[in-house]
Amino acid sequence: MRLSEWLHRAGPVRIEPLATRHAARLAEIHASAFTQPWDALEFERRLAQRNTVADGAFLRRGTEPVGFILSRCVADEAEVLSVAMAPAVRGRGYAGLLLGHHLRRLAQAGVRDVFLEVEEGNRPAHALYRRYGFRDIGRRSGYYARPDGTRAAAITMGRSLERKPG
Ligand SMILES: CC(C)(COP(=O)(O)OP(=O)(O)OC[C@H]1O[C@@H](n2cnc3c(N)ncnc32)[C@H](O)[C@@H]1OP(=O)(O)O)[C@@H](O)C(=O)NCCC(=O)NCCS
Repeated sequence: MRLSEWLHRAGPVRIEPLATRHAARLAEIHASAFTQPWDALEFERRLAQRNTVADGAFLRRGTEPVGFILSRCVADEAEVLSVAMAPAVRGRGYAGLLLGHHLRRLAQAGVRDVFLEVEEGNRPAHALYRRYGFRDIGRRSGYYARPDGTRAAAITMGRSLERKPG
């Protein structure tokens, strides 16, 4: 049994759908992870949209999420718009549990193909997506603006959900 599976069964983290009441905490986590933060209103707006699928990682009996993943579905395709874990809980395998759960939920909702963009050089994110079956399918140079004014390429990744997710 992998450590992440053991942790999951032991119960320190649970994965549950997110709701608009979580918006403020999601904005905090997002701000800790990205240079162009989404504020709480932005999260509320996105979570209220019918084509959004959003899952959160919660510690034990915690009522506020410590990580999230948010996708937008159109027909039988989904795009992962954002994934982040709070800095204090990174590197524990929770993002893998969150992504695996989310992909199963998307598959149950009828999604067949999932796409996402990741900044070139973001090794933790790239490793996470590769482990969960995503493959590089394209590169968009200059896609992301960095705080220092330079730009970074995005790697487009995708996977089919026709076989069992994660
Ligand atoms: C990307 C992110 C969600 C991963 O969360 P996490 O809980 O730390 O991830 P996990 O512990 O499940 O580890 C995921 C993988 O990254 C690897 N990893 C973790 N830290 C790493 C590092 N500093 N360098 C290289 N690989 C690393 C792990 O070994 C693991 O790989 P494996 O599955 O092959 O063993 C988290 O780092 C984060 O919130 N980053 C900031 C936001 C971000 O970049 N989001 C993605 C945008 S596309």
